Amino acid sequence: MQENIRYVLVWSGWLRLAHWVIAAGVLFQIVSAWAIAHQNVDVLFWRDWHMIIGQVLLIALMLRLALLFFPGSSHWRSLIPNRSDIPNIVQMIKFYVTFARFPLPNWYAHNPLWKPLYLLLFVLLAGCLLTGIFQDAPYRIAGFSLPALHSLLAQIITLFVIAHVIAVFLHDLKGKGAFISAMINGYRYFHVSDQETGRTDSVPKDSSIYISVESIKKQSDKNSK
Ligand code: HEM
Repeated sequence: MQENIRYVLVWSGWLRLAHWVIAAGVLFQIVSAWAIAHQNVDVLFWRDWHMIIGQVLLIALMLRLALLFFPGSSHWRSLIPNRSDIPNIVQMIKFYVTFARFPLPNWYAHNPLWKPLYLLLFVLLAGCLLTGIFQDAPYRIAGFSLPALHSLLAQIITLFVIAHVIAVFLHDLKGKGAFISAMINGYRYFHVSDQETGRTDSVPKDSSIYISVESIKKQSDKNSK
């Protein structure tokens, strides 16, 4: 039986741009907020940059939110789990609770378990940005002043980021999809054996290149000679 590897574009350039600007921006905001809280640094410098990067983040988040309405893996529907995701969600939970000893399931673009968490993250990020921009306004939401809410949301986002980075490293380590490099170049690998399963894992055929494992082996043998 022959195993085929499909090399498929799953993340558009715009989505990757939004992802990395948001990722770099959130990491900078965590570091600069920590610096502002420590009085032995130039607080004004860090506060200025915190506000500048906050505005960059706002633009990147608006781009990502606009992409929710464009077709493809950035669309809001692809972030809502459906019935067919349930077995994969269960398998993901088994993967985590067994400390990555249980095999990873197959998925196309977003990890099935993380789909709704990404949507939730967009809401948290929007809330954090708005409470940051309007921090001097004398409003209270659910008993919280806007700076207190800003700080609470920032702490939840920090926990998300830690869990997300650990998760994507684990997926990349244990899976065969090259998940992290896919977020850089857009393409993921899919290992499929159509002869065996008759299934194609809902990978769009027009965007894929078929490569047989034998041909890759021959190529690397040639290169190593
Ligand atoms: C630090 C802040 C970060 C934030 C806020 C963040 C946010 C997100 C979001 C929202 C998605 C879903 C894609 C989308 O629909 O837009 C995503 C996916 C992804 N991110 Fe990040 N990310 C961060 C950092 C990172 C880092 C440092 C890496 C790599 C080392 C990374 C690798 C990935 C990968 C591989 C996916 C696809 C995961 C999947 O299969 O569901 N992210 N990230």
